[in-house]
Amino acid sequence: MRVFTTIAALCCYLAQCRSSSEGTIGFVPTMGALHAGHISLMRRARQENQWVVASVFVNPLQFNPREDLAQYPRSLDTDRDLCEAAGVDILFVPTPEELGIPIDGSAGIETDKTLVVVPDSFTSKLCGATRPGHFDGVATIITKFLNLIQPNAAYFGQKDGQQLAVIQHFVNDLNFPVEIVSCPIVRETSGLAMSSRNAYLTPEQTITATNLYRSLQKADRLFKQGHYQANELITSVSSSLESQPDIQVEYIELVEPITLQPLNYITENALLAIAAKVGTTRLIDNILLRTRKPIMAIDGPAGAGKSTVTKKVAQTLGLFYLDTGAMYRAITWLVMNSGISIMDEPAIAELVGTCHIELTPEKVEINNQDITLAIRTPEVTANVSAIAAQSAVRKSLVRQQREYSRRGGVVLEGRDIGTHVFPDAEVKIFLTATVEERSRRRQKDLERLGQPIPSLDELIETIAERDAKDSTRAIAPLKQAIDAIEVITDGMTIDQVVDHLVKLYQAQVQ
Ligand code: PAJ
Repeated sequence: MRVFTTIAALCCYLAQCRSSSEGTIGFVPTMGALHAGHISLMRRARQENQWVVASVFVNPLQFNPREDLAQYPRSLDTDRDLCEAAGVDILFVPTPEELGIPIDGSAGIETDKTLVVVPDSFTSKLCGATRPGHFDGVATIITKFLNLIQPNAAYFGQKDGQQLAVIQHFVNDLNFPVEIVSCPIVRETSGLAMSSRNAYLTPEQTITATNLYRSLQKADRLFKQGHYQANELITSVSSSLESQPDIQVEYIELVEPITLQPLNYITENALLAIAAKVGTTRLIDNILLRTRKPIMAIDGPAGAGKSTVTKKVAQTLGLFYLDTGAMYRAITWLVMNSGISIMDEPAIAELVGTCHIELTPEKVEINNQDITLAIRTPEVTANVSAIAAQSAVRKSLVRQQREYSRRGGVVLEGRDIGTHVFPDAEVKIFLTATVEERSRRRQKDLERLGQPIPSLDELIETIAERDAKDSTRAIAPLKQAIDAIEVITDGMTIDQVVDHLVKLYQAQVQ
């Protein structure tokens, strides 16, 4: 791991990385005093990128004069070791001066600096109500980091739900070419959300603080019983906390997680968030409440029987089989019928950005034209992988796949569904079989088709090579999500596999 304190060194090293090989950069900004919550972001970035950059910077711009900038916990030596162990390649630890944020002890932060100002509708509630200027400070520092590092993806915790929404919003508004990845809250076994500020709590307060999550869980149970009214859920949290004299509630709010607009009633997604003081320490926590039916994401290597199994699972459970392969075929068909060369990526990007795919269990349409049969021709088959490897195509279709699945109840298969397309899928499966088993299956398939049958050793070599290629490709590499259930299908029949996956889904629904 390289550690840099200057912009010059950071940018110089990043330029070397970029020129040494193709691959993505993942970025994890932190203020240090690292704990397992931060580390989970780094591990996720490690899993999904060629290079991982982390920063440790206690950002003066996001502290107002009454807040704990000077007292904020700092532990750089330990942080450095933790970053290294989490697989970080580059740790950036600038001073405020290096980032152009000099602090004049008496006058505070200089006022002639350009700030990114977050709209009122995002900052007037939740934490923003009592922390004026805080989110402008966050947006400004993140803008600086994104400009300097130019990562492909940046990782943030759901723990700071408002921060995540603010960042996602300004990144969209200002067209930053970065993907914002939200990562689940990491908790102590007691349920307390991990936070650098937990270090301020006495042992007794640490126990008291567990009531925050417990009160949210109680509301979650109500929600799962069908109580979708904001006032019922909020009252449930507040009555749980009222009985705790050492907890001073600052807010309990129910908002839409992306726009942060207050909700009276949950129709799709909601963020139930609290902030409270335990002693003098201000803590925040939240849960996401979703009305959607669970999504099942099935990833795995080629030849593991994913598409057969996925279709059957969808049929058995009455879920929508979102045939992502058909979407890539639809684009391929459109490209081939538009007279555009399949190598002309910008023209294809333009085309894909303005087309509309309609997918039902019976039909595939593109721009209102029925192409259900046309996408299954050998010409489309021959070109689809070249089209699917183009990043603009991928981005556009992933956006459409997410839109299709807003209400849940879908099952889909691929290589990066659980890691990239639906990292928040409720049921993630990594469906695989040993190379030997897949080679034997391939031999049987070829025999059935009356085609020449290569030796087992030859097939083993070919399949192992394809696995390696699929796992290291720049666009949509094959990845097993950390929270995926691995199902090794050696010795299992298709029906046994389907039955197993159906049971896993049903267990989740209950
Ligand atoms: P900091 O509080 O250090 O948090 C850094 C990142 O770790 C944030 O994205 C935060 O949401 C995430 N995180 C913290 N606790 C977590 C937990 N228990 N589980 C999962 N993720 C968790 O947030 C900031 O720093 C700053 O505002 C920053 C974004 C770095 C800008 O200065």
